[in-house]
Amino acid sequence: MKVIQSISATARACRNAPQPVVLVPTMGALHRGHTTLIDRARKLAGKKGTVVASIFVNPSQFGPKEDLSRYPRPFAADRKLCEAHGVDLLFHPDAAEIYPEGFSTWVDERVVSLPLCGASRPGHFRGVCTVVLKLFNIVRPSIAVFGLKDFQQCAVIRRMTRDLDLGIRIEPVETVREPDGLALSSRNVYLTPEERAQAPMLREALLAAESAWRAGETRASAIRRILLRTLGRAPLGRIDYAEIADADSLQPVKTVGPGVVMALAVFFGRTRLIDNLWIR
Ligand code: PAJ
Repeated sequence: MKVIQSISATARACRNAPQPVVLVPTMGALHRGHTTLIDRARKLAGKKGTVVASIFVNPSQFGPKEDLSRYPRPFAADRKLCEAHGVDLLFHPDAAEIYPEGFSTWVDERVVSLPLCGASRPGHFRGVCTVVLKLFNIVRPSIAVFGLKDFQQCAVIRRMTRDLDLGIRIEPVETVREPDGLALSSRNVYLTPEERAQAPMLREALLAAESAWRAGETRASAIRRILLRTLGRAPLGRIDYAEIADADSLQPVKTVGPGVVMALAVFFGRTRLIDNLWIR
């Protein structure tokens, strides 16, 4: 595995790399969710293709009151994990490399980005789209792998890729969870033991809502009440949103059925957890 810090050297290495090139963008602090994406990338690339992972804690997707400075950065451990999971090139730029002096061009998707996380984190998806488009342009992958844990991020990137004719296949990967249902996240380490004990309620709320739908309830308003009621069983949680939306556009829907996603964001202290359930 080769570790590369500069954009031009990364671009050169990728241009000369055997095809297909499969990219896994991350912010590091890698866990089993990330390594599952890397394993998928390795499968898609085959023995001959090239797996590129990037580790960059992207400042422009953090709000002014968010956890940019305390975001975990265990690079040595991340590097080992990448190596062990068959990454060929690890791109680890610093912020000045990605955002040179006078940087002034942004990618702003204006529909899928607006509700849910976009509403509570203004500017977040503008930062995500901009950095992901930059990574796509530097690495020029034919496939990029994203986790469905960040369902809206997947949907926004898919929309950007289509709207801007990027010609990159976006490969979604199922959410990887702890045995009690909590979605793995680099932010779970911030939870106190009491908060951690209540955090699986996000998953339980989604499963309760899904079983109500399976039992015949299709009114989004009724399903949403089930989400809220179940989340009420985690008193340390403060609900940011609990929404039912079209899985492609993320606009609200009135009826629950295939093609709909139920999405949650809940604060435990200052830690914000998200989860979702996609009815396919
Ligand atoms: P990060 O939070 O590090 O996540 C990197 C990728 O791992 C994303 O595609 C995310 O959806 C996926 N992932 C995280 N936890 C997962 C889990 N439990 N199961 C499955 N996949 C999981 O998302 C970002 O970084 C950034 O926004 C980025 C796309 C790198 C742009 O800066």
